[in-house]
Amino acid sequence: MHYTEIGFVNTKRMFEKAYGGGYAVPAYNFVNMEQLQAIVTACIETRSPVIIQASKRAREYVGREFVRHMAQAAMEVVRSSGSGIPCALHLDHGDSPDECASGIEDGFSSVMIDGSALPFDDNIRLTKEVADFAHRLDVTVEGELGTLSGVEEEVRRSTSAYTDPKLVEEFVKRSGVDSLAVSIGTAHGLNKVGMKPGGQLPPLRFDILEEIKRRLPGFPIVLHGSSALPAKYVDMVNCYGGRLSDVAGIPEEQIREAAASCVCKVNIASDALLTTTAVVRKVLSEDPGVFDTRKYLGPAREALVALYARKNREVLKSAGRV
Ligand code: G3H
Ligand code: ZN
Repeated sequence: MHYTEIGFVNTKRMFEKAYGGGYAVPAYNFVNMEQLQAIVTACIETRSPVIIQASKRAREYVGREFVRHMAQAAMEVVRSSGSGIPCALHLDHGDSPDECASGIEDGFSSVMIDGSALPFDDNIRLTKEVADFAHRLDVTVEGELGTLSGVEEEVRRSTSAYTDPKLVEEFVKRSGVDSLAVSIGTAHGLNKVGMKPGGQLPPLRFDILEEIKRRLPGFPIVLHGSSALPAKYVDMVNCYGGRLSDVAGIPEEQIREAAASCVCKVNIASDALLTTTAVVRKVLSEDPGVFDTRKYLGPAREALVALYARKNREVLKSAGRV
């Protein structure tokens, strides 16, 4: 089914508005129903545009049919809310033209083709192949240049390479992408590579971001690996029997600064996983008699609504931008 029949929009207009308004559209990953419900509830409540996204691995875990129908249900809720918030359905970290095509078939309005591990020319070739067929259906395409370290969907990359700003114009021109994910120091997952206990990532490379902005005026940039991983939830996990170490997130003031510049889409996945785990652990250990899953998934969903709403209001500044 084409995404317009469901009610989704592609990211074009969303990003134009975000660029002009100095904010970023949240791109929240989902891997289960409660998470998706929380994303939709928070974005309706804060009147924020939203990109709901599922990765290739999430589609495998949840099941292609469930992702498709859950996303349709989410759109139905958005519609009936009367909030008028624009909502895109995005394939995160698509790794092949086939994966992107299957997403488009399922109603995705935007796809990422991640060729960032490939040599420059191969990355361009792969990205262009996807852009060519996606654009025929008015689906927007995100490419990536530069590599992020960390664990993404169980795949570990131990090295990171900052995006070379000198290459961005050629990449965008030759591949035909609509937005570009760049590497300026963010990292995927919970255990950011090379972190010592209690350590912090080096600050994001705003000099690189500014140079990219100068070379690609008005062009939407995407940040992956942007979870903040609040100490409050790391401590809660560890206090209730978990063992998380070497956790270091991206300070929210740096994400706020990037969102005010040319970054129009910010990807957040791990913050939600951490929050869910912390709340579930707390409920189960405070009340060992609990067996009804709603008794712990419900409170986790409430905590997620608060997390997403706060990100929209205080970090990405997407609240009220309908
Ligand atoms: O594609 C998804 C995001 O890049 C995940 O980043 O692990 O920091 O939440 P995160
Ligand atoms: Zn990512």
